[in-house]
Amino acid sequence: MAIVWIVALPFFSHVVCAAQLSELLAKHGLSVTLFAATADLQQLRSNPMLEKWKEQRLDINLQDLDINSAILADGVGDLRRFTEPFLQTGRAIEEFLKKDSVRGVKPTCVISDFMVHGVHDAAAEYKIPSWTFSAFPVGYIATYVYVKQLESKGLMQLPHERLSQLSQDEFISPPGQTLLRICDLSPLFFRDGPFYQSALQLFQPFLNVDVILFSGFEEFEPRAVNELRRIFKAHASRNSKQIPQILTLGPLFPIPSYSKRSNLGDTQGADVHPCIKFLDSHPPTSVVYVAFGTDVNLSQEQIRELVFGLETSQQPFLCVLNTPKDYPNLNFEVEDITSILPPECLESIQSRSLFVKWAPQQEVLSHPSTGAFISHCGFNSILESVSLGVPILAWPFKFEQFMNCRHLVDMAQVSLEVCPGLISDGFVTRGDVERCINTLFRSSEGTAVRERAVQMKQRAEAALRENGSSSENMKKLVELIRSLAAVDA
Ligand SMILES: *[C@@H]1O[C@H](CO)[C@@H](O)[C@H](O)[C@H]1NC(C)=O
Ligand SMILES: *[C@@H]1O[C@H](CO)[C@@H](O)[C@H](O)[C@H]1NC(C)=O
Repeated sequence: MAIVWIVALPFFSHVVCAAQLSELLAKHGLSVTLFAATADLQQLRSNPMLEKWKEQRLDINLQDLDINSAILADGVGDLRRFTEPFLQTGRAIEEFLKKDSVRGVKPTCVISDFMVHGVHDAAAEYKIPSWTFSAFPVGYIATYVYVKQLESKGLMQLPHERLSQLSQDEFISPPGQTLLRICDLSPLFFRDGPFYQSALQLFQPFLNVDVILFSGFEEFEPRAVNELRRIFKAHASRNSKQIPQILTLGPLFPIPSYSKRSNLGDTQGADVHPCIKFLDSHPPTSVVYVAFGTDVNLSQEQIRELVFGLETSQQPFLCVLNTPKDYPNLNFEVEDITSILPPECLESIQSRSLFVKWAPQQEVLSHPSTGAFISHCGFNSILESVSLGVPILAWPFKFEQFMNCRHLVDMAQVSLEVCPGLISDGFVTRGDVERCINTLFRSSEGTAVRERAVQMKQRAEAALRENGSSSENMKKLVELIRSLAAVDA
């Protein structure tokens, strides 16, 4: 019996990705245990995905990790709030490995998130194959391996501060990517970032894994995939080891076919989400969908500026917003948005706007009325958008989002930047918002971006079809796991 342990990073978007991977492996008849922080699993348990697992009798067990999710849940503070839970995850898995090895129920392999520490070493102790799963883009991992390798040999030295003038003025051209400002690299690369020290510990074990899995698909980042393979090939031949398999498996969610539910009878249904009703009431390819993920809260001033820009753009819009971070006590509900918006624009947006706290994102992006996605460029959101053919208006905030933005705009060319030259948590003006929407909806440049977004959707669909890159990679992975289980048995 092939048993796969999947270890998620205690960060909800990563947990969703790990859950999608679990589902795919279980659909191939494997037994999967998904380890994640209690708070994340609580949130996951309310996801309709789990109903589907039950119906299909998939063999997926959820295993709580009693780790410090409180630091995550308080939602305040800088990136430092993540480091301890990341370390605790690895230690908790070590304990499980110890327990289960004693009882004699070893997993066939362990697949852990790229950022989780210590699992590879612990698994090696019990002779269990331990692989890496990345919910980050391939280009990000290629950059990480390349830069860390040069740094470890003393051949390269990045500035210590991410937002120093030097980091903003100078450029780097990482493997398979276009020129980036140094400050566009993620905080992982800088000594003033909280992940710098822990990233040093991640690096060596990572170089020695045999299988690296990705949530993206090869056709979205063909050059980065190629370069990462070359980097690992060179490393393997220098150290006379086996070349690791680099397997892109995404998109990990099924791509729905176009919604056919456009007759009015259906739209009146009580179970239809307000977002979908709103989209149903607008023309095809007209609505600007705005969402910044779970970890970005705008200030009240920034919300106003955004809404002003959306107002003057004349397009209808659907906006997912959290409580403004400078108004923590405002118990913000959909109707309350009026209390923080400028009164002069309320009337003109009334019939063409909807504000919600949460939207069924895949349904929204696959709806024919959705014409653009103003996004923070988190990788899950990017994959959903490109797999559903919606052009992205890129507004990055932190982590690796600036690198993602460059890839979307310069390489994949399925995006326009909301505010060229933006740096972390920079202010975006109403003019920026209006300008990028106008360019996308009313210029030949915008039309070309939209056409390429539709082509990218076709490539994503092809990757998942029989003989497509991702479905072939999934086959290889399942065969590999089965062959290991057969040896064990
Ligand atoms: C953003 O607002 C939501 C809802 O009020 C809150 O739960 C969350 O902790 C906040 N996140 C950040 C990063 O401030
Ligand atoms: C997939 O590849 C196999 C072997 O080359 C071929 O026989 C089969 O027809 C292909 N299937 C599709 C859907 O292209």
